Amino acid sequence: MDIIFAFSSFNLELPMSQNVVSRRLFLQATAMAGVTASLNAATGERPQGQPSKNALKTMMGVPFEKMDKVRIGVIGAGRRGQSVMSDLLNVPHVEIRAVCDIDPLMIALTKKRFARKGLAEPRFYGKDDRDFENLCRQDDLDFIFIATPWEWHAKQALCAMRQGKHVGVEVPAGVTLPELWELVRTSEQTRKHCMMMENCCYGDNEMMVLAMARQGLFGTITHGEASYIHGLRMVMNEQDPEGRYVSEATWRRAWHTKENGNLYPTHGLGPVCWYMGIHRGDRLDSLVSMSSLEASLSEDQAVRFQGRNEKYVCGDINTSILRTFKGRTILLQHDTVSPRPYTRHNMIQGTKGAFADYPERLYLEEVATKTKSHAWIEGDEALKPYREQYVHELWKRVGDLARKNGGHGGMDYIMCYRAVECMLQGLAPDFDVYDAAAWSAPFPLSIASVKGGGSLQKIPDFTRDHWSQLA
Ligand SMILES: NC(=O)c1ccc[n+]([C@@H]2O[C@H](COP(=O)([O-])OP(=O)(O)OC[C@H]3O[C@@H](n4cnc5c(N)ncnc54)[C@H](O)[C@@H]3O)[C@@H](O)[C@H]2O)c1
Repeated sequence: MDIIFAFSSFNLELPMSQNVVSRRLFLQATAMAGVTASLNAATGERPQGQPSKNALKTMMGVPFEKMDKVRIGVIGAGRRGQSVMSDLLNVPHVEIRAVCDIDPLMIALTKKRFARKGLAEPRFYGKDDRDFENLCRQDDLDFIFIATPWEWHAKQALCAMRQGKHVGVEVPAGVTLPELWELVRTSEQTRKHCMMMENCCYGDNEMMVLAMARQGLFGTITHGEASYIHGLRMVMNEQDPEGRYVSEATWRRAWHTKENGNLYPTHGLGPVCWYMGIHRGDRLDSLVSMSSLEASLSEDQAVRFQGRNEKYVCGDINTSILRTFKGRTILLQHDTVSPRPYTRHNMIQGTKGAFADYPERLYLEEVATKTKSHAWIEGDEALKPYREQYVHELWKRVGDLARKNGGHGGMDYIMCYRAVECMLQGLAPDFDVYDAAAWSAPFPLSIASVKGGGSLQKIPDFTRDHWSQLA
């Protein structure tokens, strides 16, 4: 059966208050009023009655089997794992039944968390770095969340799917193209979803811009800008009182001694791909990439860590330009070492207007023409009416809870809530293995491009043309 047809009877006119929001409806949320005729073109929903070329294989649009609770295993209970566990435990109908970490301190921390909440202890794993395989074999799990260092993500996600579990993996989903293809093949073969848990897609600004983009406020989208610019030198060198490196200092800095490119592409890229409808009528097609010289980590080491003698190869600032099949461009940057305020850029440009973040600001040609001003619409007061009009349905529904409970301004709670909601209601996930692979691909491809002096790299069509059938 063509699983896409599972949605063919979905009523696009359902009021938002009804807690049933399909992936497509979700991705365009507020686009409902008065524009149903253009929904298929706008969202990539395939008209009924057309069988898909890869219908038997694809995981696009495949709904979760309905569950009455979601039983979760967590691999990696470090900083991120702890934080996401805290969010998950505040989502109704969630039970965390297994936790794996090779660091006994993290297991002890987890035990305390469960005791504080008066919850039954999960089963613990972590006797060695392959003990996650035993967690994956545990029968009473529906979904496994992975928050380990990057080099483990794909191995652990593959193991989870092969043991019959849906999986949510931290970013990036994998670090090589063969790994990313293996994730796609395994998700298709096992019929288990592999979601890359890109929390930034669920930020309140990002979801507002998604609603604006889907309602055509920006016109035809031509360009986006995305980045992960976050000074992490302190994090990369963090030590405990005994002088042992802790958390990301045990693995993140090491990547800077091995690879030169964009080592963390997805936080900015994921939301921009949603605005552009990537895999819903367009796809990422190619990229070119260049890195600046390396300086910050070396200078830092010379001053603060004499005798360490690590040799860093990753240029401080990596800049890539991606092109989509339909000709849109995306500027994508990575810099985790320079002293500079945080930004993911979060910028989108269309034929009628633009939005840019950090700080958030909007430009609409219609308004500019009326006011005869070429200034951004910015500041709380000026943006308020737009925020009210375009607030995403999910933020309307659980925004208060998210702000109270959730990490990163609430986006983490919204992400967890939404993933669980999709499983409870038997909906297709908001992002799937194809998004995971395509958004992660700039990791290996930027490295290849930098090696080639900025050479053009093709981004594989992980959907194998299924994206075009949704156009
Ligand atoms: N989405 C976000 O906002 C966000 C934020 C922070 C980190 N992250 C990502 O989350 C992941 C974890 O980052 P972190 O900051 O928590 O790092 P961390 O070092 O604090 O935690 C990683 C944990 O994984 C454990 N681990 C390592 N190998 C293991 C194995 N084979 N089996 C079981 N456990 C193992 C370590 O003992 C450690 O406790 C990374 O991929 C990171 O990029 C995402």
